[in-house]
Amino acid sequence: MDKSYTFMHKSLAKGKGCLNCHDPHFSNRLGFLLKKDAPALCLECHNTDKPFFKKKHMNYAVADSNCISCHNPHGSDMKGILYAAAHKPVSEKKCAECHAGPQSKTPLKVKKQGNELCRQCHKDMMDKTFSKNRVHWPLVDNVGCLNCHGPHATKQKKLLKGPVANVCGTCHSDTIELQKLSIDNPKNDKLCEPVKSGNCVICHSPHASDNILLMSKPSSLELCGECHKWQTHSTHPIGEKAIDKRNKNLTVDCLSCHKSCGTGNNPGMMHFASTYEMCIQCHLDRRR
Ligand code: HEC
Ligand code: HEC
Ligand code: HEC
Ligand code: HEC
Ligand code: HEC
Ligand code: HEC
Ligand code: HEC
Ligand code: HEC
Ligand code: HEC
Ligand code: HEC
Ligand code: HEC
Repeated sequence: MDKSYTFMHKSLAKGKGCLNCHDPHFSNRLGFLLKKDAPALCLECHNTDKPFFKKKHMNYAVADSNCISCHNPHGSDMKGILYAAAHKPVSEKKCAECHAGPQSKTPLKVKKQGNELCRQCHKDMMDKTFSKNRVHWPLVDNVGCLNCHGPHATKQKKLLKGPVANVCGTCHSDTIELQKLSIDNPKNDKLCEPVKSGNCVICHSPHASDNILLMSKPSSLELCGECHKWQTHSTHPIGEKAIDKRNKNLTVDCLSCHKSCGTGNNPGMMHFASTYEMCIQCHLDRRR
């Protein structure tokens, strides 16, 4: 909590300030040293029965809800201290676009299941996504979009449930584990920046792609070449004329020698522990 927001939560300036909610002696489920979890924490000061409170929530009963699935407990630049990445239909209070009406018997029931709920407004984006050659598996399971996105408001941009690498890591723990080893390896003092910062979406399209491995560019020369001048990388032959002896259908590119998604303890993001071991994969005649 290091920011000064346009709208600060008034509780910060009242009573015990930070200690209204935090207690250095308790550690709650979230690990943020909170006295209690939401909603109990919030209900200490907020009366959800007040007509004004109800009206602000479009008469939906939110008393049992996780208030911080919408509100930033400290403050925000958004009205009503909603998290900055607030979904437009939420900040515009169009709850009923997704939920049954507030007077219904099951007001919070969503109108449509899975991706169909999102398709109501994201049809163009979804049509485009599902017409690609490779659609990322979590988009088509029952949970769909909500595998990665929150429906209301989130701390992270683009309504993501957490930092990108954490979201991906819920299913790709092996890949993340290898990347962690690469990051922690002291020999990798100049580790590839998007790998180091967990910026998976520089290299992979999270929804779908026409390229293998959901790659954001059709070839590694284009993908890696965006940041690395491969023409000057080395004098080693690369591209169309250099046929990979291990598989005649492949030509030599960055991925012939480098593994981008974490290589555990190998240096220089190489597939192998030493340069020698790598070179002899293709240059069999040089084997000692
Ligand atoms: C109204 C209750 C409330 C008050 C007052 C409050 N916090 Fe928090 N704080 C929370 C909650 C709830 C979370 C957990 C947020 C989450 O789950 O993302 C949190 C999380 C945090 C975190 C860790 C995550 C982050 O957002 O950075 C820090 C650090 C923090 N609070 C510091 C402070 C400080 C310093 C103050 C006083 C200036 C303060 N808090 C006042 C409720 C409060
Ligand atoms: C120590 C008392 C206290 C606690 C605990 C508390 N609040 Fe508040 N909150 C206030 C006060 C005081 C105001 C300003 C008066 C009002 O709008 O009711 C306020 C205002 C708000 C507002 C309106 C902000 C605006 O700018 O429109 C929201 C939203 C809010 N609180 C959410 C929460 C949430 C979520 C929690 C739990 C994480 C929480 N509050 C816990 C005291 C508290
Ligand atoms: C874009 C669609 C969408 C909109 C708009 C929306 N919701 Fe939701 N809401 C959902 C979905 C989906 C869930 C179920 C979340 C889950 O299962 O993870 C949900 C769950 C909830 C819950 C129960 C879970 C919790 O957070 O504790 C409450 C309460 C809720 N919504 C209130 C509201 C209110 C109030 C509004 C308007 C201010 C609103 N919603 C707007 C999609 C939406
Ligand atoms: C689904 C999202 C959502 C959830 C969940 C939610 N709120 Fe809100 N809340 C909103 C929106 C949207 C507003 C209206 C913001 C505006 O003024 O435009 C609002 C307004 C408020 C206000 C300002 C109105 C007032 O009475 O001063 C308070 C306080 C508040 N919420 C507290 C809470 C508390 C406490 C909880 C949990 C018990 C909670 N909210 C749960 C979306 C949510
Ligand atoms: C009622 C219409 C509506 C529904 C239903 C809806 N959205 Fe949205 N969504 C919007 C609008 C409007 C925007 C803002 C678009 C813009 O600014 O260009 C948006 C933006 C987004 C964004 C981008 C946020 C950003 O910060 O750029 C994501 C992600 C998103 N929606 C996910 C979803 C998911 C997941 C669902 C289904 C649970 C869903 N939406 C359902 C209307 C909707
Ligand atoms: C595997 C995780 C994942 C799933 C599942 C997912 N998204 Fe996303 N989505 C992301 C990530 C990550 C971004 C941010 C991309 C960036 O920052 O470049 C994003 C961005 C978006 C945006 C912002 C515009 C854009 O394309 O950058 C929208 C809108 C969106 N998603 C909607 C959806 C909808 C609708 C679904 C379901 C059909 C869905 N997403 C499913 C991970 C996911
Ligand atoms: C809900 C689980 C889930 C989440 C979250 C998730 N993925 Fe996946 N992903 C999968 C599954 C399942 C596959 C298919 C695995 C297979 O075919 O062996 C897959 C496949 C992939 C592939 C390989 C595609 C191929 O052709 O083999 C890449 C790359 C990938 N995901 C990247 C990501 C990134 C980046 C994120 C975060 C933005 C992410 N995933 C989030 C479940 C997930
Ligand atoms: C968004 C820009 C960006 C992209 C795209 C990118 N890199 Fe990097 N990479 C960097 C930066 C920045 C460094 C650090 C350079 C330094 O510190 O001198 C780096 C470093 C490296 C290193 C040196 C690692 C070490 O430990 O010495 C290798 C190898 C590498 N990248 C390979 C790749 C490959 C292969 C791809 C394509 C799959 C790729 N990079 C895509 C930005 C990028
Ligand atoms: C610098 C570009 C780059 C970044 C950043 C990157 N990847 Fe990859 N990823 C690749 C390439 C290229 C492959 C193909 C195999 C290889 O070289 O490792 C791949 C392969 C994968 C695979 C297939 C299985 C495997 O491990 O080979 C998954 C899953 C995956 N990446 C997920 C992720 C996730 C999750 C992140 C973020 C934490 C991420 N990637 C970041 C370029 C990248
Ligand atoms: C024939 C094998 C081979 C190919 C093909 C290859 N590299 Fe390398 N690369 C190496 C070796 C060996 C090193 C030195 C590794 C070490 O000792 O740390 C290296 C080092 C690097 C470095 C860090 C040092 C530097 O020169 O900046 C980057 C960045 C890099 N490669 C990117 C790429 C990219 C991008 C491609 C594709 C255009 C590529 N490499 C293709 C073998 C290769
Ligand atoms: C993926 C297979 C592959 C790997 C791995 C590989 N090479 Fe090559 N190398 C080739 C191909 C293909 C050529 C083109 C000439 C040929 O067909 O033999 C070549 C040519 C060369 C040449 C001759 C340069 C020229 O201009 O003709 C040298 C020297 C060389 N490689 C060194 C290395 C070294 C050192 C390594 C390890 C860092 C390495 N190679 C790894 C496939 C590979």
